[in-house]
Amino acid sequence: MEIWTVSNQKGGVGKTTTVVSLAGLLAQTGQRVLMVDMDPHGSLSCYFGLNPDDDMPSVYGLFERFSLNQPLAPKTLTHQTRIPNLDLLPSTTALVTIEKKMGLKDGMGRVLQMALNELREEYDYVLVDTPPLLGVLLINALAASNQLLIPVQTEFLAMKGLERMMNTLRMLTQSLGQQVDHTIIPTMYDRRTHASTESLRLLRQQYNGHIWPAMIPIDTKFRDASKAGVPPSHYISSARGVRAYRSLLKYLLVHAHSSETSQQAV
Ligand SMILES: Nc1ncnc2c1ncn2[C@@H]1O[C@H](COP(=O)(O)OP(=O)(O)O)[C@@H](O)[C@H]1O
Ligand SMILES: [Mg+2]
Repeated sequence: MEIWTVSNQKGGVGKTTTVVSLAGLLAQTGQRVLMVDMDPHGSLSCYFGLNPDDDMPSVYGLFERFSLNQPLAPKTLTHQTRIPNLDLLPSTTALVTIEKKMGLKDGMGRVLQMALNELREEYDYVLVDTPPLLGVLLINALAASNQLLIPVQTEFLAMKGLERMMNTLRMLTQSLGQQVDHTIIPTMYDRRTHASTESLRLLRQQYNGHIWPAMIPIDTKFRDASKAGVPPSHYISSARGVRAYRSLLKYLLVHAHSSETSQQAV
């Protein structure tokens, strides 16, 4: 099972869109995919028609069970989407309170990792969406992952935000005592604007080797797909943005790991 976390401390850079797009493409090729919503705002859960204000089976349940020393039983918390092969472990607003409510019990940073371990036979890929906050939720996501994907909007302040994110990553991986490979993904690229072309040039210069060599273009179809509540790949499979995510996925399947089965996925 491959576990990829999508994260950036900046909001609105395309994190949730990246999770849904890659998950949709993987599911379309017959891979069994679980999306995990670790963001208390629950945009990913909303995308699939759930209401994070409802008291429903969710990531919160994992932490609650952990704090009560109960079995995590993650299978009882997942939700089937309308899309074949695509399940969701939703978020609820209550997730924002776990640090306050449950304190920092030993092992609290590895709850998601333990839960996903129990789902090893059920899914081929797990994609984790994260909040733009440094905290126990992001630590859980990183601790569980093989690969960190960092979407960066190609605009003037991109470099500043990314420096912060890289510092956070260094701190967290140090405290976890493990390395997590990362890939930077330039998003919302508009080749007609100087801000996009210039920031892409700087990103490539500074993060050479850790940056996907192409980019995700601006595409209004992403918004249309989110209104329809289906992954972009299932909405308009030939859209420019979907084609870009398809090529990103191909790249990740080769570079993020190299097992035979996953290379056959696309
Ligand atoms: N490449 C893109 N082109 C156009 N709109 C996009 C693109 N990527 C994301 N969006 C839109 O931008 C908004 C923010 O994206 P989202 O993925 O929710 O960001 P985040 O999760 O980082 O906050 C959403 O309305 C989404 O539909
Ligand atoms: Mg989001």
